[in-house]
Amino acid sequence: MSTTYQIRRYEEIDSTNLEARRLISQGFGHGTVILAETQLAGRGRLGRTWVSAKGTGLWFSVILTPKGGMQQASQYSFVMAVAVAEGIRAVTGLEAKVKWPNDIVLHGKKVCGILLELAAEPNQAVQLIAGIGINANQQPDDFPEEVQAKATSLAIETGRELDRQALLDAVLRQITDNLALLERQGFDAIRERWLALSCVMGKKVQILQHGDAILHGTAVGLAEDGALLVETKSGIVPILAGDVSLRAEDGSYV
Ligand code: BTN
Repeated sequence: MSTTYQIRRYEEIDSTNLEARRLISQGFGHGTVILAETQLAGRGRLGRTWVSAKGTGLWFSVILTPKGGMQQASQYSFVMAVAVAEGIRAVTGLEAKVKWPNDIVLHGKKVCGILLELAAEPNQAVQLIAGIGINANQQPDDFPEEVQAKATSLAIETGRELDRQALLDAVLRQITDNLALLERQGFDAIRERWLALSCVMGKKVQILQHGDAILHGTAVGLAEDGALLVETKSGIVPILAGDVSLRAEDGSYV
């Protein structure tokens, strides 16, 4: 699949994911990119707020039409994570890794979060909104105090200011390439890339729900539907992203 992108730039918006949803209802589709300098109501996973200060990060959403419909949507989550990690690697040379379900991490700290949402309009193919927030040029003090210990930016990690346009171009290129790979070779090829980039495979982890550990074990694989496979004392348990998050066994971010 070759994807052509139409980029819509905003100085200020509530959330690029919300704008994507509004655009979908007006008939915009696959390849529409919504990019904002700042978001006043940026949203994260699990109902969290995503702080999106002006000009610091790369805050954008991409509208995509999964060829395999709703069933394939969960696989796109891994396509996106691989694409962002590879885009960051290409532009900065840093060894970006992926953390299930779709955070991107550098040296054990989060540098990017991805929020995937579905939009279904009557009589239209289901659309996926991939909201991507990459911490690009923040300094430690720019992060809210409660996330300072577990968040980082590309500028902090490289010691130099990052060209956000170059990063956007690289990530969009990687999205195109990885979607084509999914189409040609199926999810196995994406899973292989994701596993090679993963920072938790083989590690002892805990799964949290509403802040409480509900499962302890070792991360051993990724299922076809995107579930993380965790080996526990009573066997391998598949964990679906839904409302859970993952921590290292010692409680650290990874
Ligand atoms: C997470 O919780 O890790 C996901 C964060 C996703 C943030 C991005 S920024 C661009 C897009 N618009 C939003 O409101 N959220 C996503």
